[in-house]
Amino acid sequence: MEDIKFLDLSKQQKTIEKKLKSNLDKVLYDNKFIMGPEVKELESKLQVYTGSKYCVTCSSGTDALILSLLALNIGKGDIVFCPSFTFPATAEAILMAGAKPVFIDVGKNTFNICHKNLLDSIEKCKKKNLNIKAIMPVDLYGLPANYDKINNIAKIYDLKVIADSAQSFGAVFKNKKVGNLTEITTTSFFPAKPLGCYGDGGAVFTESVKVKEKLESLRAHGKGKGKYDINYMGMNARLDTIQAAVLLAKLEVFDWELKERNRIAKIYLDELSNVFHIPVVPKNTVSAWAQFTLQTKNREKLLNYLKEHKIPAMVYYPKPMHQQAAYKEFNFNENLTVSSDLSRNVFSIPVHAYLTDLQQEFIIETIKKAKKLFL
Ligand SMILES: Cc1ncc(COP(=O)(O)O)c(C=O)c1O
Repeated sequence: MEDIKFLDLSKQQKTIEKKLKSNLDKVLYDNKFIMGPEVKELESKLQVYTGSKYCVTCSSGTDALILSLLALNIGKGDIVFCPSFTFPATAEAILMAGAKPVFIDVGKNTFNICHKNLLDSIEKCKKKNLNIKAIMPVDLYGLPANYDKINNIAKIYDLKVIADSAQSFGAVFKNKKVGNLTEITTTSFFPAKPLGCYGDGGAVFTESVKVKEKLESLRAHGKGKGKYDINYMGMNARLDTIQAAVLLAKLEVFDWELKERNRIAKIYLDELSNVFHIPVVPKNTVSAWAQFTLQTKNREKLLNYLKEHKIPAMVYYPKPMHQQAAYKEFNFNENLTVSSDLSRNVFSIPVHAYLTDLQQEFIIETIKKAKKLFL
């Protein structure tokens, strides 16, 4: 059996080699490295794919979040609610825009924002007359949050929603794709993401032409009609043409990869449901399975055992945001026990489209053995 990889980008590269090389060659000969035609082509394909109205690509998933906050004029003195159990960029973007995060707990089964905890925190902020502005849910591990509930809460309290869908491109909630589930959605094309490029990249999806136009300006220094008419304080945050060319090649196998990841995840769910606390995929939801994540109280021992058997596993994330040194002062919500527990117990196993049946059987067998031996 070949060595198991946590993510197999080389096998993926072999699958798309021809298209990838011809796309890259074209960019090299055209010399349009900034905002070349591939960027527009990608935006139009992603817009159609997601069913959203507009797609504006940018330099990373982090910048997609910052640009979205700036586009909505969210900044100094404003409060944005986001989960504590997430990748640091979610909180970082809120602070970079000048606003303040209020961390919300997550559900133990879905890893996504807890609606009750969110409502409690909103009420608490309102009592203190804080300037609440937006909710930034995260589709952790590829599972879309419940946007019916989130959009509804946003409507009641007149809040904006910026979905951090860095991990869930391609996922579905009630027959609608991520990108089309709320007013603004951001995603990341970091190489390890469900749709990844060969460097940094990201995108924002929106329903509003005004937001789209502002995003296009903000990602290019806030430019107006002329290149040197500056309308907003902007950023240098465009997607490189070369990355767009890579993504166009990868898009051709993306649906197949998504199906494979769902097939593999289903086998894990069936085989491991009696062994571990498995992730729950709610009805009418299709995950992009950026990660397949289990929970155990004996993580260190299990990770060592997997390592001995050459099975790669990762911990996303070992520390929730409310415990990070940089964010400790943002301790408005003290009820974050699930986030704290998960950060001690979660571990992720390989779930990529190029995992063979034999490799997956070996992973399942080994984990079951570990459970019998010492868990
Ligand atoms: C939930 C989440 N938000 C934001 C980001 C930031 O994306 P990027 O690395 O493209 O800046 C990531 C990437 O890891 C992420 O997982």
